[in-house]
Amino acid sequence: MDSVHDDNQVTLQANLADADAVPAQCRRVTPSDPCAIIIFGASGDLTARKILPALYKLYCNNSLPRSFVILGAARSMLTREAFIDKMKEALTGAADPDMERWKTFAESLYYHQIDYTDEESYAALAATLKGLDRKHGTGGNRLLYLAVPPFLYQTIVTAAGRAGLSHEPDCRSCWSRIIVEKPFGSNLETSRSLDNSLHEWFTENQIYRIDHYLAKETVQNILVFRFANAIFEPVWNRQFIEYVDICASETLGVEHRAGYYEQAGVLRDMFQNHMMQLLALIAMEPPARFESEMVRDEKAKLFKSLRSVAMKNLDDHLVLAQYGVGSINGKKVPGYRSEPGVDPQSFTPTYACMKLFIDNWRWEGVPFYLTSGKRLAQKTTRIEVQFKEVPHAVFQNVFTEGINANRLTFSIQPEEKIALTFQAKNPVSASCLRSINMEFSYEGDKDHMFEAYEKVLLDCMNGDQMLFLRQDSEELCWEFLTPLIEDCETCINREKTLKTYGAGTPGPLEAERLKARL
Ligand code: BG6
Repeated sequence: MDSVHDDNQVTLQANLADADAVPAQCRRVTPSDPCAIIIFGASGDLTARKILPALYKLYCNNSLPRSFVILGAARSMLTREAFIDKMKEALTGAADPDMERWKTFAESLYYHQIDYTDEESYAALAATLKGLDRKHGTGGNRLLYLAVPPFLYQTIVTAAGRAGLSHEPDCRSCWSRIIVEKPFGSNLETSRSLDNSLHEWFTENQIYRIDHYLAKETVQNILVFRFANAIFEPVWNRQFIEYVDICASETLGVEHRAGYYEQAGVLRDMFQNHMMQLLALIAMEPPARFESEMVRDEKAKLFKSLRSVAMKNLDDHLVLAQYGVGSINGKKVPGYRSEPGVDPQSFTPTYACMKLFIDNWRWEGVPFYLTSGKRLAQKTTRIEVQFKEVPHAVFQNVFTEGINANRLTFSIQPEEKIALTFQAKNPVSASCLRSINMEFSYEGDKDHMFEAYEKVLLDCMNGDQMLFLRQDSEELCWEFLTPLIEDCETCINREKTLKTYGAGTPGPLEAERLKARL
């Protein structure tokens, strides 16, 4: 462990870059089973930006199974060669910039043109897969990835199930898993309906609902920090913690996703998944063991303890807003309503600040603030745990200023670090204090860390569901949020509820007010 000092800061940096420092059991687990990865939506944006680069990086790091095949399926009429060229283009800037290994990687890349509504198309896909199994020795194991617009999920799941892709009839030991991207429905009812379709063909342990926030390194570190250190848990409760503030702010606007975002808005896009998951990790009880079902049981328990928001007091719990014109990094940017594809009268919120409470023994009375928005002043995701002030002002006759309470911050991005502030006496002055930051940073380890999509793909190939969302939690989060969303979306309320904020600002003033009303 290296430590760096300056006057007000102590930084601890684990040097995981040194391979000798990483015990063998902590190194990456290369999936042992061969498999075929079938990407539905292979000619789309998600495949090019995230999935294929992640698979290629895994390949370059020898983290893919010895035998694998990637079969892209999409509506576009593409030859295999054209698909390979398209994927190669998408990799500019990925690992192995010289693409030395690209040639061998591309030998495992295939393309199948599909009509999503035609069952024969899936039968042809299943036959192609069988041929590829024989050629590449992928053993009948299937990883299906739904990288398509959500309205196609149910159609694909049902047709793929009918074509036998949810299990391999001739092989008892083969597995088939399906990765589903959010949104998992748009409210409680539609999420249940999606789950029903999935469960018609896949059991829950075959379903991998992605939340890429859970695969971020500092997010994974939250449970380790809480439960592998004896000194934090005793103070992790209402007696010592004043409030918890979880914030995910972005500088980007809606970009080219207006079609989806207009329907979703910030509550479905960021809260139902990422924000709720961060909340669960910070607030859940310790699981008996660090096993996927046990961890997910504790999360579900936490979601069951969320206090429903009384609609008549909604203003005391929720601020919704939409960005107007402004500037980001000195560049003028349009307001949300002028973005391409957005209704000029849109009431879709791009920002939300929510105050919620957890009704259980540990957290009774402690406010949790969840904030997320687009086109804000900074791109940052962090969780602040604000401790209470000291119970008695022992130094009131000595120090002129008040004493800041301790604060623990998990910075998730762009920096990946954990910082604790505490007070110390200023050595040059008899009557002054200063806040010191003690920091742990992953800065030196970046090259050795998995990107979120690499991690989720690897975990799915290894059959590890720890970082994936389970159906019960999904439904519990929808149960909590659906009444709020519906209330805000009614015609009478939506105009009244929606505030505005200038792009590039910290957000609407109403949010500051909400937080000030402790
Ligand atoms: C996605 C949302 O899930 O997360 C996007 O759909 C958002 O709207 C993105 O921009 C933020 O992810 P990250 O990793 O950049 O914080």
